[in-house]
Amino acid sequence: MSVIKDMTDRYIGVFDSGVGGLTLLHRAQELMPHEHFLYYADSANVPYGNKPKAEIEKLIESAISQMMRHPIKAIVLACNTATSVSATKLRATYDMPIIGMEPAVKPAMLEGDPRKTLVLATELTLQEKKYKELIKSLNAEDKVDALPLQKLVDYAEEYDFDSPELSRYMRTSFAKIDWTQYKSIVLGCTHFLYFKEMFSKYVPSHVHFIDGHDGTINHLINQVARNPFGTKPKLKCLLSGLEVANEIVQPYLNFLNQRSNRFLSSTSL
Ligand code: DGL
Repeated sequence: MSVIKDMTDRYIGVFDSGVGGLTLLHRAQELMPHEHFLYYADSANVPYGNKPKAEIEKLIESAISQMMRHPIKAIVLACNTATSVSATKLRATYDMPIIGMEPAVKPAMLEGDPRKTLVLATELTLQEKKYKELIKSLNAEDKVDALPLQKLVDYAEEYDFDSPELSRYMRTSFAKIDWTQYKSIVLGCTHFLYFKEMFSKYVPSHVHFIDGHDGTINHLINQVARNPFGTKPKLKCLLSGLEVANEIVQPYLNFLNQRSNRFLSSTSL
């Protein structure tokens, strides 16, 4: 009995290099409304995706060991880059569910449309063995192209979702894409979900977006002892180990709230 109580009192740790994992946290709070979450952003070291792998490995190791000092019952690596670099080692080190994320190429391949999928992710995710093995295991070499959009991580960190510079970056990045060849885009970096509306200005409407958020959260739901109905959820935030007021992340959560409301109202029109 005391063990169960102990587990249900614990937090679910959500880790990212920066604000990208808040897109996962936001969805997880909707789907798991009675859970306590501890959000860890390695803000002092973001971005990860253009740093050497060995450096990232050390940063992640240190961040996760700091998270482990808190009462947590699972960790979600809400970061495709961190997952590709460190998930295997972390799972071998800690006796706790460690749920990772990978670009959602699998669901894209299940759609059975002969047109291709474009995977957007960080430079490191796309270079890593894990990504190459994923594509190979799905036999998707000819069905998938990849485009690193590393600078979007910086725009998200600066809370810039609509500046002329960002528009220019998007326009230039997509300039050579022949969209008639594609049916979908996989958002393979958690930071990229903030830009869904912006993307839709540059991507024709026959191309739809796929992300791994719901799949990851369903996996999490199956792995953890859930808090009882009625538990008042708590949120704790750490920036590179330092506990900070939740207000720091609130603008991002508000942005995501407003966006999903806008999507809802536009669909219902
Ligand atoms: N949000 C991260 C991801 O999903 C990493 C971004 C970065 O720090 O470069 O890959």
